[in-house]
Amino acid sequence: MVAETHLTPNDFICPFFVKDGVGIRETISSLPEVYRWSLDLLIEEIRRLRNFGLKSVMLFPVIPASLKDEYGSHALLKDNILCKSIRVIKDQFPDLCVISDIALDPYTTHGHDGLLSNGMIVNDETVRLLASIACLHAEQGVDIVAPSDMMDGRVGYIRSQLDASEHSNVSILSYSVKYASALYSPFRDALDSHPQTGDKKTYQMDCRNVLEALREVQLDEQEGADLLMVKPASFYLDVIYRARENTNLPVVAYQVSGEYAMMKAAASLGCSFINLLYESLISIKRAGASLIVSYATPLILEKMNKNSSNY
Ligand code: PBG
Repeated sequence: MVAETHLTPNDFICPFFVKDGVGIRETISSLPEVYRWSLDLLIEEIRRLRNFGLKSVMLFPVIPASLKDEYGSHALLKDNILCKSIRVIKDQFPDLCVISDIALDPYTTHGHDGLLSNGMIVNDETVRLLASIACLHAEQGVDIVAPSDMMDGRVGYIRSQLDASEHSNVSILSYSVKYASALYSPFRDALDSHPQTGDKKTYQMDCRNVLEALREVQLDEQEGADLLMVKPASFYLDVIYRARENTNLPVVAYQVSGEYAMMKAAASLGCSFINLLYESLISIKRAGASLIVSYATPLILEKMNKNSSNY
């Protein structure tokens, strides 16, 4: 009766990996019970989860190595798997909120989120490219674009380009506070997108900093973001709390692949996965998150459905 924090189906955004083909539900060894889906089976899975209250999905494309290049050119093709998925999913489920990831790493041979020149990220050219990708997704009917690249100034530029192309209704969920984290490794396995040279520390944040996180929050808010993201979640609960205190925008927390994998690993050593999951999600919400992106969304939605009074 006096519990202060609860989970509801509305709190969750389910990330999905989608790839070309039919009848595919491929396992990922470092992410047990998370799959790479072909669109036909993904539609069935979304339909199943809609019955449990699924409100929103976030899509990541799995691009075969043969279609990757140095510039991520495949990202600009209207018939790539991500564009196709947006069209088909919005057609099947018009009131499902569809969020697309905006970054180059699924499409580049080097695995970086931006363009490289002499091993260095080229910020401004990357920003122009990202805005074109965002407009392309908007044309396919996406509800929210989520730039996860951490380039400077991209939120403002994407906003201006969306508005100029009559997509002022498309919102921006900015990965404002994204730390350079060891916890992204299973995600990079899923996409085969491990950086081939260097690391992402020149554009993602240093785990030692929190004031810098607040500067990122402030800048993205000024540039016109509609929602802000903090990522990863569990090692950064203080950052979620500080972000919550410093903005009136919704704060989204991403429980990333490595957090999910750690709990699966602990479960294989005897801990209860569902209890770990519940406690971690409650902690993230208690810290101040308005919404949570989690690979365990299917499981938690099913549990909530069976046991609605206990969440
Ligand atoms: C890349 C991106 C990453 C994740 C989401 N978008 C990985 C990275 O920055 O290398 C990680 C998500 C996860 O680990 O679940 N734009």
